Amino acid sequence: MVDLSITRLLVEPVLERARNNYAVWLNDDDHIMSSDELIARSHESDALMVCHSELLSADVVAKLGSRLKIVANYSVGVDHCDLEALKSRGIVVTNTPDVLSDATAEIAMLLLLGASRRAYEGDQMLRHGTWKHWAPVEMNGIQVTSKKLGIVGMGRVGQTVAKRARGFDMEIHYSNRRRLPPELECGAIYHTSVKSLFEAVDMISLNCPATPETDYLINAESIGWMRPGAVFVNTARGRLVDEAALIDALQSGHIAAAGLDVFQNEPGGNPEFAKCPNVLMLPHLGSSTRETRKAMGDRALDNLDAFFAGQEPRDRLV
Ligand code: DGY
Repeated sequence: MVDLSITRLLVEPVLERARNNYAVWLNDDDHIMSSDELIARSHESDALMVCHSELLSADVVAKLGSRLKIVANYSVGVDHCDLEALKSRGIVVTNTPDVLSDATAEIAMLLLLGASRRAYEGDQMLRHGTWKHWAPVEMNGIQVTSKKLGIVGMGRVGQTVAKRARGFDMEIHYSNRRRLPPELECGAIYHTSVKSLFEAVDMISLNCPATPETDYLINAESIGWMRPGAVFVNTARGRLVDEAALIDALQSGHIAAAGLDVFQNEPGGNPEFAKCPNVLMLPHLGSSTRETRKAMGDRALDNLDAFFAGQEPRDRLV
């Protein structure tokens, strides 16, 4: 049997399927595995199933065991993996696209609506007994309906966010490496630069992958391109954002509100955000539905099954 090491606890149906077909080692106390632990496991494994919490940097990849043939990511994002280093070791890498787009778009909409309509502050008033009375001028938020939404990264998740936002009559603008064909664009307005996008919209959703080119895409300069009173949502990766610059803009009110599911430091986030009442935060829950976490496991196992059957895995990246 093929030796498969699964580096985090997964939902039971996925573990059951894995155990039926592989000799599974499971990190069953679910701690985030250190580089040394990952390297040690790789020497006992033909395949690793890892999450975005396990860092496969070039240094780690150089020390992976020679038995290891494939890394099946239980994630769509692969910024935790040095793909070039894995490729040069001849290790196949796969991810789990498509299956988490709906769940992640739900969280993007939740954050967009919640940040705009001040859900965190309202919730706190009820919990702390500070709601004195209904008042015409109390807790006035920003209406989402009919606003212009700018989506950075119009891949599968970005397109799903656009679809949901159209339900709120939002006008969709986007920037992307390439313009989409009309059948995928569905009337969305393409911008060749992030500057032009930010200048044109009221609300922004980050949905692009984290790469060296997109690191700190949101910084003091690009925040300056946003309209005063913009609403900002990030369900992609924390490293896309200069968090200090975002905090300054939230404190000054240049950005009226933010909804954040991802942070540079996970777990923990950034304690300065917790001091901003105009920030709604979640602990990286984008793909966290029972349905999606099972679908991600199935997709990762489909990739492994194909590979060990001598076929091309559907989601092979290198
Ligand atoms: C992903 O799949 O990239 C999500 O962020 C969860 O890891």
